[in-house]
Amino acid sequence: MKEFKFSKIGQKLTSSIIRELLKDVNIPGMISFGGGVPDPKTFPRYKLSEVTKEVLENEFSFSLQYGPTEGDAILKKSYINFLRKNEGIEGLTEDNLLITVGSQSALYLLSTTLLDSDSKYFVSKPVYLGAASAFSMNSMNHIDLPLTEDGINTDFLEEKLLELDENGEISKVRFIYVIPNFHNPAGVTLNLERRKKIIELAEKYDLLIIEDDPYGDLRYEGEGVPSMFKLAGKDRVVMLKTFSKILSPGMRLGFVIGHETLLRKLVLAKQAVDLCTPSLTQRIAGRFLEKYDLKELLKPTIDIYRRKKDLMLKELEENFADIKGTYWTRPQGGLFIWLTLPEGFDTMEMMDLGKKNGILFIPGTAFSISGGCDNSMRLSFCLPSEEDIVEGVRRLKKTVVEYGKEKGLL
Ligand SMILES: Cc1ncc(COP(=O)(O)O)c(C=O)c1O
Repeated sequence: MKEFKFSKIGQKLTSSIIRELLKDVNIPGMISFGGGVPDPKTFPRYKLSEVTKEVLENEFSFSLQYGPTEGDAILKKSYINFLRKNEGIEGLTEDNLLITVGSQSALYLLSTTLLDSDSKYFVSKPVYLGAASAFSMNSMNHIDLPLTEDGINTDFLEEKLLELDENGEISKVRFIYVIPNFHNPAGVTLNLERRKKIIELAEKYDLLIIEDDPYGDLRYEGEGVPSMFKLAGKDRVVMLKTFSKILSPGMRLGFVIGHETLLRKLVLAKQAVDLCTPSLTQRIAGRFLEKYDLKELLKPTIDIYRRKKDLMLKELEENFADIKGTYWTRPQGGLFIWLTLPEGFDTMEMMDLGKKNGILFIPGTAFSISGGCDNSMRLSFCLPSEEDIVEGVRRLKKTVVEYGKEKGLL
């Protein structure tokens, strides 16, 4: 094999378990609870196709051209209105918004502009792998925060911060990374009290909060909780939103909402990465938002996902209630359920048996930077059909029972 002279970062890059696993998705008969990709049936393709035709024919001098690094003013205006109407966020100007190539690239830009190799930052355990990858490009010094049903354990955060302060290391801490709604991979939501506690601690130690919220608009039941951005404002919080789960991930549109000084830095970093987010998809989305009420259009999508989520929960109840020590999260929205098996189960090792039985899931260790989560797995209910959810949970049960018996755990 040809050897190349890779940089230290280049050498660190290895293939992700999720990507490896998704290779098996196309095996005939395989049911996948793996990837967190939306159901294509939910894409408003005819409406998008109409808007695209207009944007290409009538606005080609913008939509087929390079655009401003900050993003398309038309989309910014529509999105600021969207945030005002749906999240009650007032007072934003164009300078408080940057449009990125999905929120993944925003995570990368934040990593580049905020982290030195000795910087520390807080992430949840389990963690969203994409954020962990983006942050660890610049610093490996993450601090894990355990998750509970109500989100990040804030007592633990408080203790850690106190410890860092006493050790004289607090100035190295750059941010707390939070997925407030329907966490990927855990499915849990940070309650209001804990949101306020995190803000209080961030104020005390002068830390930035990165609020990554791709799933907040996909609420299937229960009361919405105000965003941390709304609670604490742009001096303390930078919020990431995306159209990937509510319009189309293929359009690759993400939004950074934050302080103009921070955003100006991100813009400079973005110039080195991609010059600008595609003008075409931005203008299509901008005109789409002018023409349609996206929140209203989401209602049938929410109905589809709610049904699938309820079905998976029901099947888990029916199939796993008799395996003592097994529990799972009950999300009120989003795309994921986090299932934990009794101690001793190793879901990574169990994957081969799962594949043999025609079922894919993502093992818990894939979501942990420093090991652990061995007996957990992420189950996604958004893509499989209802019949596949029923059959898939049965195959999962079969796999767990076979593995448990083989290892003497059941
Ligand atoms: C928590 C979280 N952040 C960011 C992303 C990246 O989304 P995108 O780049 O498609 O906007 C995802 C995608 O699954 C996610 O779950």
